[in-house]
Amino acid sequence: MKIYKKKQKTAIITGASEGIGAAFSKLLIKKGWKVFGISRSSSKLRAISKSFQSNKQSFKYFSCDVQDFKKLKSIAKEIEAPDLLFLNAGIYSPVKASEINLDLYKKHININYLGVLNSYEAFLPGLIRKQNGHIIIMSSVSGWIGLPKAAAYGPTKAALRSFAQSARYDLNPKGIKVQLCSPGFVETQATSINDFYMPGLMNVNEAANLIFKHMSSNKFEFSFPLSFSLFMKIFSYLPDKISSYLIKKFII
Ligand SMILES: NC(=O)c1ccc[n+]([C@@H]2O[C@H](COP(=O)([O-])OP(=O)(O)OC[C@H]3O[C@@H](n4cnc5c(N)ncnc54)[C@H](OP(=O)(O)O)[C@@H]3O)[C@@H](O)[C@H]2O)c1
Repeated sequence: MKIYKKKQKTAIITGASEGIGAAFSKLLIKKGWKVFGISRSSSKLRAISKSFQSNKQSFKYFSCDVQDFKKLKSIAKEIEAPDLLFLNAGIYSPVKASEINLDLYKKHININYLGVLNSYEAFLPGLIRKQNGHIIIMSSVSGWIGLPKAAAYGPTKAALRSFAQSARYDLNPKGIKVQLCSPGFVETQATSINDFYMPGLMNVNEAANLIFKHMSSNKFEFSFPLSFSLFMKIFSYLPDKISSYLIKKFII
């Protein structure tokens, strides 16, 4: 009797050098996946690769800015279409909309929104060819309602939500599953700059475990931690008069 080795599952993860992307890469590798990590810092990616010692083959990395579509296309030529494309790379800077911030707004759009589209378009043809695959787009609860200091970040996450909602109708019939991940606060370098109380702040490994759990569900959008995301969902449905009153009274 022949014994067939189950094909190793593969994932492309953008923003794999830090935070949620790094934790999720490590988790997938622990579960036997092969991960192709993409982000700008090759030294951070190298350090992650080194941490796998006996399992080095499971993490291959590419230093690339998600704003560089040409380079992403050339990476796509090097690797087979993955089982999972996790479009996670992103930046976050709090801003005051009363100040001049055009460069920062553009930077957020270029990395958080167009960077996702660059990565999506670079790797999509492979998924379409094999008529199979799974794309998770990283959004945020900040995409559900405009919040103070989130005028640069929030709109990019709202745009990703709208994009993913739309894209799934075209991709599902081609055998490609699309999910949107909309977390609350996760403890990473991105949130370490926040000078306010972050309700439900979650450990990055816990977040990675929840993403892994939800990716096998049929839910289009998933969010965590449960209590904070439920609160934010209800909050986002409140009449503007009430939600803006509460924000002015308790947050600003
Ligand atoms: N932490 C939270 O509370 C939270 C909540 C909701 C949603 N999110 C979303 O989750 C994602 C990850 O956030 P995080 O908290 O893990 O942030 P993080 O710790 O700052 O990590 C961000 C990752 O994105 C990469 N990245 C940034 N700009 C890039 C670019 N131009 N090209 C390629 N890679 C780039 C960074 O690597 P390099 O610097 O090496 O390029 C890093 O690996 C983001 O999309 C964020 O908006 C986070």
